Amino acid sequence: PSHLSVRNGRLRIGEHDTVDLADRFGTPLYVTDEERIQDNFRRLSGALTARYPKVRVLYAAKANGNLAVFRTLASMGAGADVFSAGEVALALAAGMPPASLLFNGSSKTPADLALAVEKGIRVSVDSPDELRQLDAAAGEAGKTVDIAFRVNPAIDVPTHPKIATGLATSKFGIPAGQILHAYREALSLEHTNPIGIHCHIGSQILAVEPFAHEVRVLIDVARDLIDIGVEPSFIDIGGGLGIPYRRETERAPTPEDYAEAVVPVFLRGIRELGIEPELWVEPGRWLVADSTVLLTRVNSVKTAHKTFANVDAGFNLLVRPTMYDAYHEVVAANKADAPAAREYSVTGPICETGDILAKDRLLPELAAGDIIAVLDAGAYGFAMSSQYNSRPRCAEVLLAGKKAALMRRAETIDDLTAPMVRPSWQA
Ligand code: LLP
Repeated sequence: PSHLSVRNGRLRIGEHDTVDLADRFGTPLYVTDEERIQDNFRRLSGALTARYPKVRVLYAAKANGNLAVFRTLASMGAGADVFSAGEVALALAAGMPPASLLFNGSSKTPADLALAVEKGIRVSVDSPDELRQLDAAAGEAGKTVDIAFRVNPAIDVPTHPKIATGLATSKFGIPAGQILHAYREALSLEHTNPIGIHCHIGSQILAVEPFAHEVRVLIDVARDLIDIGVEPSFIDIGGGLGIPYRRETERAPTPEDYAEAVVPVFLRGIRELGIEPELWVEPGRWLVADSTVLLTRVNSVKTAHKTFANVDAGFNLLVRPTMYDAYHEVVAANKADAPAAREYSVTGPICETGDILAKDRLLPELAAGDIIAVLDAGAYGFAMSSQYNSRPRCAEVLLAGKKAALMRRAETIDDLTAPMVRPSWQA
């Protein structure tokens, strides 16, 4: 991609030399190119609005939870798909108006529902039980809440089973057979106002047909809704557009392919129904994944039954390879022009066999002190990090043109122990 390049044998991101960044800020280090996020937002949002102007882009906040990333997207006009009180707080702190948020999730607490009511945030309701609780909470506050229901479209989604959410068997959403009943109940309640339809079929989807299928299902739901007197004012098709983690071999649909698959089906549907709802999308990965590299330093190299490059970042900082067998490209950042010499497994410092960032990759001859860049680490990277093995999380840096600044400092050992409390009986 255009924001990654090589100069003098070193990998660059934006206008910055990654090895200099690693030296200046220390490793491990997450480095995010703000302009890449802006470009991604413009491209995805532009592809959709070119075909239908009433589009709203809600950033899926879970992909990258740094407040600076929220601010970048807020200033581009993004709203957010939020799943927790923390995500609500971040989105509001970044200046996103409450009306640009959708509170999602299949297991909301009473406090979550009260928060949505208090702030005037629309809710995607995942069950009749939740509906009744929300209605009661709104009633208590003397307010009404605009809601959508999350539809389970029962679509087979070609992605990793752990992130396919549109399956009939998934925990998310209300089955098509029950959805009308749920809307009827919402109509009968005083404090919930059903105005939208919500769905999300899964993540890292590298085909567009499942999205078109999804839209057809949602148009069918809209048709039934009109029959019972609800004219949907938005139809939210969720996120899920995948990216080519294997740049050499993987073909990923572009935002234009996505828009071309989804919008005409949507337009045909709504014209036939004689309605003009907003089309909402909730991209996470596509906006932020390729904006970020994780820089990690080689601690040692060992040749046993194969050759390991032991680096200072592991699944504590990037769990995707371990959790989903995900593939991330790795580059020897300070030897980016050097010929491939042998196969390495790039392994982290965590005391588990599964702590492998990259398996059997052809890389230049490596030595202690070298810097490895793990690409496409901006989505579900830092966001899923942990302090496992009592390792403080690393810093995150944001780049804008020639500027580079911390957007999160590295945690310290004191940060590990600060929340811990001594039980009274321990000396
Ligand atoms: N909307 C809803 C309701 C979602 O649950 C998600 C993601 C999104 C939107 C955004 O999906 P995206 O555009 O990013 O694919 N940790 C996994 C991905 C989990 C996705 C969870 N939900 C991974 O690292 O691949």
